[in-house]
Parts: sequence; structure tokens; C-alpha cells
Amino acid sequence: MAAHPTPTGPTGNEATDDELRDLVARLTLEEKLSLIVGEDFWSLPEIPSIGLRKLRVSDGPVGVRGVTWDERDTSLLFPSPTALAAAWDPEVTRRAGFVMGAQTRDKDIHVLLAPTVNLHRSPLGGRHFECYSEDPLLTARIATAFIEGVQSAGVGATIKHFVGNETEDDRMSYDSRIDERALREVYLVPFEEAVRTGRVWLVMSAYNQVNGTTMTENSRLVNDVLKDEWGFDGVVISDWLAVRSTEAAAAGGTDVAMPGPSEVWGAPLLAAVRDGRVAESLIDERVTRVLRLAARVGVLGDRRPAATTTPADAVVTLRAIAAQAMVLLGNDGTLPLDPAALSRVALIGPNALRLSAQGGGSAHVNPAHVVSIPEGLRAAFGDGVELTLTEGAFTHRALADLSLDTAVDPVSGEPGLRAEFLDAEGAVLSSEHRLGSSLMFWPDNIPAGATVIRLRTTVTPTVSGTNILDVRGAGRFEVDLDGATRTIDMTLPEGTDVIEAIMRPEATRIEVEATAGTPVPIRVDFSQGGQFFMAALGLGWADPRRSAEAELAAAVEAARAADVAVVVVGTTDDIESEGFDRADLALPGRSDELVRRVAAANPRTVVVVNAGSPVLMPWRDEVAAVVWAWLPGQEGGAALGDVLTGVVEPGGRLPTTYPAAAADVPIYSTARVAGGHDYGVQAGHIGYRAWALGTAAPAYPFGHGLGYTTWSYDEVTVKGDADGVTVDVTVTNTGARPGREVVQVYLETPDGTLMGRPEPIRLVGFTALDAEPGARTTVTVPIDAHTLSRWNTEAAGWTTTPGTYTLRIGRSLGDLPLSADLVL
Ligand code: BGC
Repeated sequence: MAAHPTPTGPTGNEATDDELRDLVARLTLEEKLSLIVGEDFWSLPEIPSIGLRKLRVSDGPVGVRGVTWDERDTSLLFPSPTALAAAWDPEVTRRAGFVMGAQTRDKDIHVLLAPTVNLHRSPLGGRHFECYSEDPLLTARIATAFIEGVQSAGVGATIKHFVGNETEDDRMSYDSRIDERALREVYLVPFEEAVRTGRVWLVMSAYNQVNGTTMTENSRLVNDVLKDEWGFDGVVISDWLAVRSTEAAAAGGTDVAMPGPSEVWGAPLLAAVRDGRVAESLIDERVTRVLRLAARVGVLGDRRPAATTTPADAVVTLRAIAAQAMVLLGNDGTLPLDPAALSRVALIGPNALRLSAQGGGSAHVNPAHVVSIPEGLRAAFGDGVELTLTEGAFTHRALADLSLDTAVDPVSGEPGLRAEFLDAEGAVLSSEHRLGSSLMFWPDNIPAGATVIRLRTTVTPTVSGTNILDVRGAGRFEVDLDGATRTIDMTLPEGTDVIEAIMRPEATRIEVEATAGTPVPIRVDFSQGGQFFMAALGLGWADPRRSAEAELAAAVEAARAADVAVVVVGTTDDIESEGFDRADLALPGRSDELVRRVAAANPRTVVVVNAGSPVLMPWRDEVAAVVWAWLPGQEGGAALGDVLTGVVEPGGRLPTTYPAAAADVPIYSTARVAGGHDYGVQAGHIGYRAWALGTAAPAYPFGHGLGYTTWSYDEVTVKGDADGVTVDVTVTNTGARPGREVVQVYLETPDGTLMGRPEPIRLVGFTALDAEPGARTTVTVPIDAHTLSRWNTEAAGWTTTPGTYTLRIGRSLGDLPLSADLVL
């Protein structure tokens, strides 16, 4: 029976079991219980008598936000996790994790709520962009490196959401019905590797049920598998508000209920312990874990948090990762562009004007600056190239935030707006100057007694005519504008996921007849029928617009008059977000028509797709090149400039299969059936393994990505047996440019089945390399024994089935020129 490698020794800050036992013995029952429930939204309390200081946590996978959601508290914004996975390079992710961990320290936070390792089961999953891949091995390798990077900065990483949380609709209640083999071989793989190899300090228990038991109460998976079998000694922290019972959640293995105060784990848990319904020893065990974590992050006794600080070159790192992760899906030779050979480039598209640098949801952070695409391309092309800019299609549901160039806070007279909290009598409880017009308040940031949030600003339009104001939020608005008051009621139905209500607020547009240079005072009162729990609201603005048809025609004209057209289409943060799934895979609005008409007008049309998860690209064979740019983070525009001009090779490979048509996708719908999701469809397989069971061919296979050079796969040598294998692969860079290649190794069983189930080809290893033109390079791809074994449900363990397998080696699942036998 093959086993995972066992964890190595403790970190420098590690507390001994004796020390922890002594500390727990010094706590009262009330103190112990205070340590397993949030003191507020983001922290655990201090207990000075045992030398315990406050421990703060914060989201999340694209950067560390901090304990407020506020444009004045800025964070580095990283490329989205799908982009990190596309680098297919644990060293890249380790570096990203370290930089993010370092900024976590700068913000005086101890735990980062990342990475997200649920798998790409359906491409409609709302948080697809926030997860890594459809492949468990790739996810595990990327996640483990990320965790090691974060924790090397002295910060706890939190792998989430344990487990079966692949989609967002009804996530609080749906039941993921997953058989043991699929659980072990697919969904638990990243968690197991993160615990056993990455020694992760926290695991977040998910909202959903698995096999009939909600995950915060799922003793079998949390106590038996995670803690006992894998030896996890860290903290199981609940997803926010996921603990919904007293005794069952206490027995179920969740250690800390977040956030606090908790209606079910506060006084009711105290009563349950006093009555003997919950054993105090069980609470002691949870407190021990919390104190062990406190020692690790340096908030216990003499231990201090690591002194790591954000590296001075962090922004350079973000730009390099964003560029390296971009995937060149197709190219007729138009790319890379030589600026010296160009005089005019038409930059076109809704996402060219408004880059989606990140997705929506709790992962959101507030970057100090985002390099826009026009900014990035102007810098890349230089002054010798004229860059024209046309939106082409209006695809955004919400308008752009108010601009600091045109909006002024009437109180301070500074650019921005005034936000005030009022009580029921209209008294102002607090008042602040804000720089952004998308506002989000956690419970801790709302003054007690506040029932109204008032926004005031004065906008001075720059274009006369019909300007547009939009008002966003789940609730009731009184809008004072032009001397009139309008009431807009956008209250969401009872039972809507609170996060959905916040992340995808309704938007109402108001036309404003305005004259350039004449100020328009605006006052907006927002209420939700009582005191706020959390609140999100926003204002947006658009200059007068052409009709949709005229806008499209202008784009076509701009393309016709240019040497090259660069069309940037994609999703937005209210398409890819949390709390809800995507409705379909189509690009929004008239994006497809825009691409087709521009491509018809200019044969040198390069399409850039700015999205974190698959979209349909029906025009993909009608354009000169397609660059998949992901949600690239704050350096997105600069990274795109690097890639289009060839300063950096787009070195990414798809971590997920991209379909040609929705009907081809083996697991598509995210709607519940009989209260849940049957993970047993497609023989328990997902991604390319589920595709392999059908006949449809995808638009782009798993692992695909072209780069700017070409490669030959020359030789393969396999050494080893069931205890572990190394595969030496020799490749040659046959093109004229230096390049980056990801050598991928897949395994096929002798007859496509294993232990009574279809067993399609699967990824077992990969290694990235860089090579100069003409260079012949040999890389070693290690495959550990565990990867070669499969879960044997009858034996309740991992076994390796003897036989002659085939290793297939190449640059994507669609291009595997080498093969070799592997005798196990
Ligand atoms: C999300 C978690 C997140 C938490 C705190 C939840 O809604 O599912 O991923 O860490 O909120 O923001």
C-alpha cells in the first residue's frame, strides 16, 4: 500500500503539547468558549492572563484585503487563481504565496483565508476563477506550493472549502453526493496533499452537505479523515455563518465558528457544556488547536509574528506572473507585434475600457492602482504608434464608478464623495470622505443604531447631453437629483444568499440631462427597513453614449483604419462571483458580434479574452490570434503589453478543458436535483476525464497553450516501479525565439478501466522548462508512488494495480507525441 510522505518537523514557533495543556488548564470555561467563536467578523479575542494576543484573519486568494473593505485600505491584487494554475509551475505559486503572506504581515493579520481548492466541475461554477483547475493533481501541486509560500512568511494559510463546494447556487444547503472513491481520488486530493505535504495550519469547513451531513457537522470527514487519518493538527475554521447548530457542530469537528457573535455557539454552547450534552474535553481539544495556531503565528507568550515585509519588487512579480500565465490559444503568426512596424492600433471592446482585473465575491481586494489596458499598451507600443480606443459593445450591467476627476465631496471639497450613517431620527452617527463609489460595510464597520446610509457628491459632467447615473444595492433608495426625489426599491426576496445580495446588487439607471461644466448635486439615502447587518451600495456614471449599433459601427471603422485591431472581450465581476453560478458560457451582450465584425474588417485582429473561467468563442477560427488574459490583477494592462509585443512569452497552459459548445460539456448544469448534486455521473470523473468518456472534442484541450516558439519532443526514458517513477524527457526548442515549455506526463491503464470502473487518461506529472532557440534539454518529471495508486474502497486504502501501463508525454492532452510503457 502506497502512502503519502509524512509531515516533517515543527516550525520554529511551534508550541509543545505540554505547554498547550498547561495553558488550557489555566482557562475558565467561559474563556475557552470565547476562543472558539469569532470576537467579531475577523478576529479571535486576546486573553492576557495566558499571554494570548488577538488573532486576525482575512480573505483571500487574490490578495489580502484586511479587516475592512475600503478603497483607502489598499492591497496588492494578484492574478486570479486560475491564472496562477495556468503557469503550471509550483515555484511561481510559492512566490505568489510568499508575497501575499508578507503583505498579510504588513497589515498585522495572522491568517490568510486562501487557497480555494474546490475543483472545476461545471464551468458555470461562480467561483471557478477562484479555484485552480479541473485536475486534482495540478490543483494539489499549485495549492501546496502556495501554502508553503504563505506560511514561509509566518502567516497561516487556510485551505477551503472542505469539501464538495464546487458550485454556488444554494451553497448553504445543497448535498454533494460523492462516493468514497471519487472523494478520495478527486475532491479530497488537494486537501490531503496540503495537510500531509504542505502542513497547512487551517482548513475551512464548507457550507454544503456531503452525503447528507452539512460539512460543519461532518464528523466522518472532519474528525475521522482529516484529523485522525491524515493527522491534521491545525484549526478547522467554519465558513462564515456555516455553523448552524450547537451540539452537532461541536461534535462534528469544526474548531472555530466564524464570525462572532454566534447565536448557536455562544450562550447555547455554554449551556450545553454545563448540562453535560457537550463534553468539556471536546472544547479543550478545540482550544488546544487554537492555541497551537496562536503559537505558530506568533501571538502567544514570548513568540512574535514573523517580521516579514512585502518585497520591494512585489509589483514586478505580479506583472511577471500575469504575463507568464496568459495563454496563447491560437496565432497565425500575427503575434508578437513589432511596434516599429505599426503606425496605428485600434484597441476595441468593453473590457479594453474597463479591465476586469479580478472577480467578485469575498475574494475582492482594493488595489491602489490598476494598470489599464490603454495605459499598458501605450507604454508597450511607444509614442510612434497611435492607439485609438472604442468600446464597441455595452456589456456591463453596472456603470463604471464615479470618477475622481468629476465627483467632489460637498463637505470636504475634495475629489470623491461623502458617506454618512444616520439613525432613525435622522441624526448623523458618523461621516466620512470616500474615494470610491462602490462601498461595502461589514457589521463591525456600521455604527450601532444606523438605519440609513447617505451618499452625497457633486458630479461635473464633461460631455453635454444624456449622461447616466446608476444606483446599486439591495434595498430602498431615495435619490435627490435635479430638485426631484425618486424612490427606487431593489429589495431582494427573503432567502437570497446574503453574499449574493451584497456581491451582485441590483442596479437602476437614471438619465441625467446635463451640460458640460455645470455641477450636478446628488444625494442618495439607502435603507433596508431597520438596522443594517452588512451593507453594500454604489453609484456609477456614464457619459452620453452612441446607440449600440452606432458604437459597433464605430468599432468596425476604427479597425478598418488601423494596422492591427486588438479586441478585448470578457466577463465582469458580477458574472464571475460568489453566492451564485453563471447562467451560461456566452460572452455578455453583443461581444461575439463585435469580434466577428471587427475581424471581417481587419484580417489582423487579435482577440484578448479577459475572463477567469471558460467562455464560448464561436469566432475562434476567424481571427488572427487569441490571447487568454485571465483576470490578470493590478498589473494586467502592463502584462498584456509585454505579451502582445513579445517582451514576455505567454507561457500559460489551460488548467481546464475549454468547450466549443455548452451542449458538449459533460457536467454542465449547476441546478440541484433532489436537493443536491450527483457526483457519481460520468463514473465519478470530471474535466478532461469526463470528456474522454464521450465523443465531443473541446475547443481547446486541457494543457493547451502555444507560446512564441516551437518544440520537438525527442526522447523519453522511464525508470522506477510502483514505489516511484522518474520520466526523463528530452525536448528541443525548434523555433527562433527563447521559450517556455511545460512537459506533461499522462497515464493510461492497459484497457481503460481500473478496479471495475472506466479509468480514462490522467495527468501524473509535469515540469516547466525554459530554453534558448535550438537548445536540446532533458527534464525529469517525478511521479511519486502515491500518484500511481488508486483508492480501493473494499480495502479502505490506496493500492497499486500491477500491469503494463502507458505513459504519454507531450505539450497538452491534444498533443502527446511520445509514449513509453510503465510496468507496475
Ligand atoms: C466565503 C469564504 C470567505 C468568507 C469570509 C464566505 O462567504 O465562502 O471563502 O473566506 O466568506 O469572507
